[in-house]
Amino acid sequence: MAIVELKNVAKRYGSSGSNAVENFNLTTRDGEFVVLVGPSGCGKSTTMRMIAGLERNTDGEILIGGRDVSQVPPKERDIAMVFQSYALYPHMTVAENMAFSLKLKKRSATEIKAQVDDAARTLGIEQLLERKPRELSGGQRQRVALGRAIVRSPQVFLMDEPLSNLDAKLRVDMRAEIVKLHKRLKVTTFYVTHDQVEAMTMGERIVVMKDGQIQQIDTPINLYEHPANRFVAGFIGNPSMNFLRASHVDGVLEGEGFRLTLDPAHAKTMAARAGDVWVGVRPEHLEDTDGEGNAIAGEVEVVETLGSVTVVQLRVGERFVTAQLSGHRRIEVGERLTLGCASDKLHLFDVESDEVIARNSVSALNAVAT
Ligand SMILES: Nc1ncnc2c1ncn2[C@@H]1O[C@H](COP(=O)(O)OP(=O)(O)O)[C@@H](O)[C@H]1O
Ligand SMILES: [Mg+2]
Repeated sequence: MAIVELKNVAKRYGSSGSNAVENFNLTTRDGEFVVLVGPSGCGKSTTMRMIAGLERNTDGEILIGGRDVSQVPPKERDIAMVFQSYALYPHMTVAENMAFSLKLKKRSATEIKAQVDDAARTLGIEQLLERKPRELSGGQRQRVALGRAIVRSPQVFLMDEPLSNLDAKLRVDMRAEIVKLHKRLKVTTFYVTHDQVEAMTMGERIVVMKDGQIQQIDTPINLYEHPANRFVAGFIGNPSMNFLRASHVDGVLEGEGFRLTLDPAHAKTMAARAGDVWVGVRPEHLEDTDGEGNAIAGEVEVVETLGSVTVVQLRVGERFVTAQLSGHRRIEVGERLTLGCASDKLHLFDVESDEVIARNSVSALNAVAT
């Protein structure tokens, strides 16, 4: 176990072009499970490879357990990595694959057997120990890859999209298992995914990245309730948050097809601001209404009946608004619908910067879980 610190870490590949990772600052807790999430190409793997020592950081410092590791080669960083490709040795059995790193370290046969058996029991793969990788399913192979990482009892686990090759059902099972495993082993873990649901369900803290830059570091619930900008707001949550451009006058936001009244705290923050804002509304916060107070009205274009919820797409002026209504609703395409949203569920964003205009911007943005 160890605290991992990244201070102003940056990476530039080659001599020209922009940074793949820029100004990355994060200090983990000892034993924390940190998820890096963001679209493809945002710099997640580069960050992991710098922590592992497979890539030199162009700038900044990386400390593991208080030790500056910039001059420390990967194999001396006491880190175990698990990747999307399992990279098992095909000619070795499961047991031999798992034992390999301990053999290199010249551990005794008895110790190696004890470690491998223990990891195999933890992962429920005892009955597979004598098989070769080709005799395993994808899920079993990924378990072996995890087992190989566990036997090393590293200070830090780095997992880069380890579940991407598995089918949807297996991914859900495996992500729960990795969380349980972490609760048991309590090893500081960096976990990379591009899937926001995986990030939300697994991370104690989540680092949301875009174009090499950290957008926000927060707990899952804070990301959902207090997104720092329009990117995070749209990335976290499914279906995605709706954004409507509105003109603001005296605590009322208006645009074609909608009129929303701000709660007193928001209205106070907005009092000093003239001009347009982006108003963000999550689909699950919209409800059928009689049209009083807060209302968004439009024509129904799509109805998706999922049983537990009904997802509706409305055309509101030039835009589409998605609403997720609880239960099964009898709503017809072409019908006019009026939806309301509690005023304390509205999110406001600056039209220039896309940054949140928060009621209590300081506390909301800096609310980092400890
Ligand atoms: N070895 C490399 N040489 C040059 N550019 C790279 C290299 N690896 C990654 N990049 C670039 O760095 C950026 C971040 O990539 P990466 O860290 O792999 O993103 P992610 O893992 O989030 O998909 C991308 O623009 C990618 O093209
Ligand atoms: Mg990657």
